Amino acid sequence: MNRHGGYTGEKDNVLDFSVNINPLGMPEGLKQILTETIGELNRYPEIDGRTALNVLSSFTKIPVNELILGNGAIELIYLFARAVRPDSAVLLTPAFNEYRRALEMNGCANITEFVVSEQEDFIADSEAFLDKIQETAPQAVFICNPCNPTGVFIEPDILREWIFKAPADTIWFIDESFIDFSDSGGIGSEILTDRQIVLLRSLTKFYALPGLRIGYAAGSPEIIRKMKDLKEPWTINALALKAAEYLPETENFASQSRKFMKSERLRVEKALEDIHCIKAYPSRTDFHLIRSDRIPAQELADRLLDYGICVRTCEDFPGLGEKFIRTAVKLPEDNDRLIGALRQITEE
Ligand SMILES: Cc1ncc(COP(=O)(O)O)c(C=O)c1O
Repeated sequence: MNRHGGYTGEKDNVLDFSVNINPLGMPEGLKQILTETIGELNRYPEIDGRTALNVLSSFTKIPVNELILGNGAIELIYLFARAVRPDSAVLLTPAFNEYRRALEMNGCANITEFVVSEQEDFIADSEAFLDKIQETAPQAVFICNPCNPTGVFIEPDILREWIFKAPADTIWFIDESFIDFSDSGGIGSEILTDRQIVLLRSLTKFYALPGLRIGYAAGSPEIIRKMKDLKEPWTINALALKAAEYLPETENFASQSRKFMKSERLRVEKALEDIHCIKAYPSRTDFHLIRSDRIPAQELADRLLDYGICVRTCEDFPGLGEKFIRTAVKLPEDNDRLIGALRQITEE
């Protein structure tokens, strides 16, 4: 089980850079609606979240039979593995490690990791990746885009090329949980009826609601049907459904967040470039992967905690080992504290 998910230690007032949540916080209007919805908690929520699904469908222009809601994106990773039960899979790594666990729990005996190395700046060589897919002929391919933890984004054109050059019966699971922070709309839903694809979206990160648990998947109708058939009733509570219904109201919030994130991410990236003995990889989302060349990642994390800063070490991601930490992009004053602390520690 993933043992991360934010700082849980004893210290007070720790700045938590280990979770990648929108630093602008939850949209104000949503906060108000959630407060008002507390009065409805004495009733069961809709068993299948039909109202929220319909709103999501007209907002995304994706038909309801290609959409499913989840108790966070995580529920849908496990539900996909349970519904499809692929017997073989290729994972483009390093990436979120729950795909492997979900597959293993559902009997997938043949998991191949295509590991992209730091020498390639974690950018997959298209030809080599396609060769691996041809060679292993997996039933499913998992891609995290933008990738947690590297921040690398695979452009939609490249992804489409992979999908159409691979055998037509390959099922593609594309986790776009961090895409709202990027300046790309992703691969688009038109493709869902051309090939077997599931696109995963999370609302917890961009709308700063990790405690509420809401996400959705858009996928090829047959796969979505199988997932709906196996889904337990009422996994999404009334507050989370209201958050999904609020999505069409968030366009200003979304564009403001993206604008803020782009400029702040670039500012942080530039400041990190000047710090000795670390390398921050360029990111297209709301966090940075940082390689620490002199101080082992765990020691660096411990020393940052002395400054009241929590970061995520990355030893549990395939191919990363003991040298990497991941840091969220937060508000400018918080980011300055991280940059200052890193500078001091690496110069000691
Ligand atoms: C890449 C990726 N996908 C999915 C999830 C799960 O997100 P949620 O909070 O919506 O369940 C996470 C959580 O960190 C993640 O990093």
